[in-house]
Amino acid sequence: MNLNKYFTIDELRSQAKKRIPKLAFDYLDGGAGTEENIHRNRFGFKNITLQPEYLRDVTNRNQKVTLFGHVYDAPVGISPMGLANLIWPNADKILAKLAKERNIPYLLSAVGTSSIEEIAKIAPDHTWFQLYIPGEDYICFDLIKRAKESGIKVLVLTVDIPEPSIRLRDLRNNFTIPFKMTPKVIMDIMRKPRWALDTLINGVPQFKTMMPYMKNITKNQSLNAAQVLQVSARLNEDLIKRVRDSWDGTFVIKGILSPKSTKAAMRVGADGIIISNHGGRQLDSAPSTIEALPQIVNAADPELTVMLDSGVRCGTDIIKAFASGASFTFTGRTFMYGLGALNEPGAEFVLDLIVNEVDKTLAQIGCKHIVELNSEYIWHNK
Ligand SMILES: Cc1cc2nc3c(=O)[nH]c(=O)nc-3n(C[C@H](O)[C@H](O)[C@H](O)COP(=O)(O)O)c2cc1C
Repeated sequence: MNLNKYFTIDELRSQAKKRIPKLAFDYLDGGAGTEENIHRNRFGFKNITLQPEYLRDVTNRNQKVTLFGHVYDAPVGISPMGLANLIWPNADKILAKLAKERNIPYLLSAVGTSSIEEIAKIAPDHTWFQLYIPGEDYICFDLIKRAKESGIKVLVLTVDIPEPSIRLRDLRNNFTIPFKMTPKVIMDIMRKPRWALDTLINGVPQFKTMMPYMKNITKNQSLNAAQVLQVSARLNEDLIKRVRDSWDGTFVIKGILSPKSTKAAMRVGADGIIISNHGGRQLDSAPSTIEALPQIVNAADPELTVMLDSGVRCGTDIIKAFASGASFTFTGRTFMYGLGALNEPGAEFVLDLIVNEVDKTLAQIGCKHIVELNSEYIWHNK
């Protein structure tokens, strides 16, 4: 693999598209409805201009960020992604290993294809566990117990799936787990030999964390079952408070997009929130996260750690998020594009691309340490 051929996440995405079966690539790349929200996420970042500032000594630049008592080496972590091993074989483990080696957080999805126990063993100090509130309470509290027993310190509750969204690409592809092996799908997989071989070696991905709760479910229903385990139309503050009270570690709520929900998150005792529209995968008409950020920061008490994901594609986006008030960022698809394009080294390659651009941008805007960013670093055309 020639890493020197790639300079942007878009280039990696194009290469990944050639190497991942269409069903899986569309599941990764796609979003809700007409995918306006995916575009809005990008437009939100592009619409912000930074203020170049020189005549300052920026020789020693720093991107370390302290979050919940841990000093991370980069201002970005890896968002939780269900079915990651289906998109690229072994993705969960590769990403957890990267998180440990490079000292960034890795958020393991409850509907991930590796178990909490496996991933916590690989990256004990860097794995955060992302929980959905499934239909039955006992599953939720058992997952919390398992996360605790695995030594996980940060629990992230995702709240933005009251209903599965309408993802047109998945509907058109008739996306199910395991894949329906139509002649078209078989032909497609044959054209993706590295993915096919690695999937053969590693085995068909399963919802490893959720498996104990899926005993009565036949294999062909597994995707539906997993979706049921994700969906929580009945979420309310009381229920979240019960979850919070059963967890003695750090508690984060993911999927916040408004000042009202921010206040609710504080009322239930969250230590942090991740402003997220699920990467444009839930409400197609949702705002971009970077545009929602300033009003949310305004509504938040200073003790609440406000983080953001959805649409982050380069280091400059991260600078814009910090300058707009975020204390940390995450990205999901970028890491998967790297893996799909370049196998295991691709994940680290993505992190290097991002970190390098953060560093160069800090220099251009005259900022030594990323945590010093504020709205003065944004160009205001007055
Ligand atoms: C393939 C895929 C699977 C996802 N699965 C989950 C999940 O299980 N739990 C969750 O909270 N968010 C999930 N998300 C949303 C991500 O955590 C994150 O919010 C989003 O990917 C960020 O946007 P970006 O991909 O544009 O960086 C998923 C996203 C993708 C692309």
